[in-house]
Amino acid sequence: MSDKRPRRTFAVISHPDAGKSTLTEALALHARVINQAGAVHGKDDRKATVSDWMDMEKARGISITSAALQFVYRDHVVNLVDTPGHSDFSEDTYRVLSAVDSAVMLVDAGKGLEPQTLKLFRVCALRGIPVITVINKWDRPGLSPLALMDEIEKQIKLRPTPLTWPVGEAGDFRGVLDRRTGEFVKYTRTAGGAERAPERRMTASEVEDVDADVWAAAMDESELLSLDGADHDQERFLGGETTPVMFASALQNFGVAQLLELLLELAPGPGATAGVDGTVREVDDAFSAFVFKVQSGMNSAHRDRLAYARVVSGTFDRGMIVTHASTGRPFATKYAQAVFGRTTSSVEQASPGDIIGFVNAQALRVGDTVYDGDPIDYPPVPSFAPEHFMTATAADIGRYKQFRRGIEQLDQEGVVQVLRSDLRGDQSPVLAAVGPLQFEVVEERMKNEFNSPIRLSRLDYQVARRTDADGARELAGTRSMEILQRTDGTYLALFTDKWRANKVARDNPDVLLEELPAGG
Ligand code: G4P
Repeated sequence: MSDKRPRRTFAVISHPDAGKSTLTEALALHARVINQAGAVHGKDDRKATVSDWMDMEKARGISITSAALQFVYRDHVVNLVDTPGHSDFSEDTYRVLSAVDSAVMLVDAGKGLEPQTLKLFRVCALRGIPVITVINKWDRPGLSPLALMDEIEKQIKLRPTPLTWPVGEAGDFRGVLDRRTGEFVKYTRTAGGAERAPERRMTASEVEDVDADVWAAAMDESELLSLDGADHDQERFLGGETTPVMFASALQNFGVAQLLELLLELAPGPGATAGVDGTVREVDDAFSAFVFKVQSGMNSAHRDRLAYARVVSGTFDRGMIVTHASTGRPFATKYAQAVFGRTTSSVEQASPGDIIGFVNAQALRVGDTVYDGDPIDYPPVPSFAPEHFMTATAADIGRYKQFRRGIEQLDQEGVVQVLRSDLRGDQSPVLAAVGPLQFEVVEERMKNEFNSPIRLSRLDYQVARRTDADGARELAGTRSMEILQRTDGTYLALFTDKWRANKVARDNPDVLLEELPAGG
């Protein structure tokens, strides 16, 4: 029998240190965890549930894997897909956003919007993913709530529509005003946030433990917001025009239950999805899923390959034989995991919105579709603007064949983007990445998996714009830039900085120089 419980599949987008790990742990504490999939980044002595599949990863205590945490809350199944986001920021961080239906933007009350959050937000905006904003660390001194709302509106052009409003300034957290019910939700400090914080609700006339003027100030500001039209509107939220906002302290577990309630109430569940040819698959149709991440070399003892897929429609039953859309070949799903990393527990069944990992999935690539029943092929996962560039050469020229094979494989897996030009030749392609850690992964795997150690040398470019064959011809020979071609045929113009990119665009108004998603 298939599992009909409603799904919520979301990711947390934030800048390092905003409290994502803390929030993830707090969410897990509030809910009943079904599968924990290396979702929490290990930090120092904190509980590390990181999949330590590479020596490099072990040494640093970080997770390179994008994994997922699945839990049940009030008879909903919630899938929290991890967005690696510390020093391991990479293209995968963006790709996982293709697997979610909504995002929680976690903002440090003391810092406001930070660069990595903005980058991830842009990907959400591009994909039309609705965003709920959580202002975290309200138990610490920070910015004024109205200033934060202003910043959100200015920087990301979403209208903030606070659902709760803090009572007491940042650092003097008394609780929140539930703007929809007018109730006061009292903040209770728990020792180290180790337990679920009890949330006590009181009507306006019952409010206690708060000075009259502090409560009045919150009510006043809330009214100002209403007069300004900053109230929640579900349609505008789903349409990507507004972002509901709530105030929290993840460390103290305050606001965590509220966030779960909001996810259940407001965030969209899985919906019908269109294939490249416009065919629409309803969630109740036959099984289909798409691969949003592929990972290899997790176990140096044997070559394995894990493909992470999001179920789009139907019920997945382990063992079913599905069709691989890009080759038309059958694909056996005998080895499917719900839990990633090193754990071996296998998934028996999965529903739309769930994330499954296919083991030994040699044939599957990022963006691939697998299906049962009528054919369907979902659009490719877009690639994003790289900001780091290196040339790669085989350290041992005698191993050039291995070098070529390895680079080709890593390119296909999407570990890095591989760029070439006639000028540079095939001996030293340019590797392009969103985050520098991607290069380390390449170095490690080229050495250990393909037996071809490489030499990397940094290039001075930071900005890539998309152009075409005409553009490549027109711009050939222009100073301080270079045109290279990606394996998928896309021409990229690389510049040292955006000022130069803008100048070249101004000087050549007829040449296509398009910004890529999430480009700096
Ligand atoms: P990240 O995954 O987004 O990088 O953030 P993480 O949860 O690791 O949190 C970063 C720091 O912020 C941690 O402190 C954490 O305890 C703290 N923090 C998270 N949420 C809150 C909050 O609501 N209030 C306050 N006051 N602090 C919060 P740390 O000193 O780096 O680590 P630790 O030694 O406390 O574990």
